[in-house]
Amino acid sequence: MPLIAPSLLAADFANLQRDVEMVNRSQADWLHFDVMDGRFVPNISFGIPLAEAVTRHLTKPLDVHLMIVEPEKYLAAFAKAGASHLHVHLEACPNLHRTLQQIRELGCKAGVALNPHTPVSLLEDVLAEVDIVLLMSVNPGFGAQKFIEHTLEKVRKLRAMNESVLIEIDGGVNLENAPRLLEAGANVLVAGNFVFSAKDPVVVIGELKNFPKV
Ligand code: DX5
Ligand code: ZN
Repeated sequence: MPLIAPSLLAADFANLQRDVEMVNRSQADWLHFDVMDGRFVPNISFGIPLAEAVTRHLTKPLDVHLMIVEPEKYLAAFAKAGASHLHVHLEACPNLHRTLQQIRELGCKAGVALNPHTPVSLLEDVLAEVDIVLLMSVNPGFGAQKFIEHTLEKVRKLRAMNESVLIEIDGGVNLENAPRLLEAGANVLVAGNFVFSAKDPVVVIGELKNFPKV
């Protein structure tokens, strides 16, 4: 069974407590939290105070995706705010090995995120420091974009490189591509628009969790 992580980016920001409570009572495993700085990506989302506010209500792990330059400066603050997992982008980390070690020292699961153009082979010498690989299946910065099919090939390649690392897919996930992603070796599905634009998000989360039998 996959782990499901609804993305807060697609929630109703004027009703965040309601949406966090929906995630709590659903079959979701984690809540995905997209931090954007207007520099690493051409958009700005939310940051540390919101992570604190959300974790006051959330009963599940907070999966923090840092789409920011110099993420190492903010790891401790997000860990203190309640992050369980911290994903940094490989493209934003000149000292990735050290940054991943810092995440584990803070007591969080260490995640490394890859943009669509970044080959999984670049992870070869750092996988021992990684708990989760987050493969972007859209270009980061915005929700509700179209799934990039080439991601499937990256999942297969990465799974062949390592059989135990968690592979998380982020962007354009829906019930059509979910079974194919799981078959290729993915374990975690992030879903923003597909969950929050549904009439009943709890039902859709349950479908993502249970429907894709492979
Ligand atoms: C995009 C974010 C995603 C986004 C996914 O930059 O990293 O987490 O919220 O949203 P959907 O599922 O709508 O593509
Ligand atoms: Zn994300």
